[in-house]
Amino acid sequence: MTAGGDRATPAIASAAAASRAAEQLGDRLALGAAPACAIILGSGLGGLADRIEKARRIPFRDVPGFPQATVHGHAGVLIAGELAGRAVLAMAGRFHLYEGHAPRLAGYPVRVLHALGARTLFVSNAAGGINRNFAAGDLMVIADHINLMFRNPLEGMLEPGDIRFPDMSDPYDRALRAKLHEAGKALGVPLRDGVYAGLLGPSYETPAEVRMLERLGADAVGMSTVPETIVARAIGMRVAGVSCITNLACGISTTPLSHDEVLETTTRVARDFENLVIAFVGAL
Ligand code: HPA
Repeated sequence: MTAGGDRATPAIASAAAASRAAEQLGDRLALGAAPACAIILGSGLGGLADRIEKARRIPFRDVPGFPQATVHGHAGVLIAGELAGRAVLAMAGRFHLYEGHAPRLAGYPVRVLHALGARTLFVSNAAGGINRNFAAGDLMVIADHINLMFRNPLEGMLEPGDIRFPDMSDPYDRALRAKLHEAGKALGVPLRDGVYAGLLGPSYETPAEVRMLERLGADAVGMSTVPETIVARAIGMRVAGVSCITNLACGISTTPLSHDEVLETTTRVARDFENLVIAFVGAL
């Protein structure tokens, strides 16, 4: 057993590894001011990366401790630069549990972003709409989540600086959610608000599972984000998030679901999504 590791995943994805990664990347990222926000871009939402000014890009393969992103629609680049004149960090791509990654690895990028100075995290994802008032193409401010992955990125040895039993009563910061809604109003981009259910995947849900999620109080369902938010809260970061409702969940929609449909919808709403995030960062 090594310091910072556990039996299942020795020494990977630890807080110490994140600090070392940040030290190694610091010069290449040339971070002047501490980032106002770190942004994780979900499936098909990576276009925001191209709107980052003065961008310095590091492929995931050069980030110590990062595996390659494997999913189509995920670029796998860490970017430092500016949005709305504010310093930001962004990750185009993330690590999903369904790729077989250890839960702590799914949260490791958040530790790296934190070690690089970020204290506010913006998470985004593609999700299926469960709320029957939702339509494909809607953007939903994440009000809360339900962890149905049955794994947790904090499993294993307690990391230095972590809280063993972190409070999750305000996982998606109330004040930041209000800022998102204000930004949406100012831009004329209508926003929904709702609960995100995070499932392991990678198969989409059955109609019976979607009915169950509806009864549990979920408005949208996806396969990411939850591990990142949990790590962020455990290390004291504030979190805001938006789901792009790319499709109606199985059973609510009667047509078969494909990843292509997910990416088509994100392409359609990409501009609104990007403008929203830029306005939000400008208001931080
Ligand atoms: N279910 C789970 N994940 C998703 C979906 C869905 O319907 N759409 C996009 N990501």
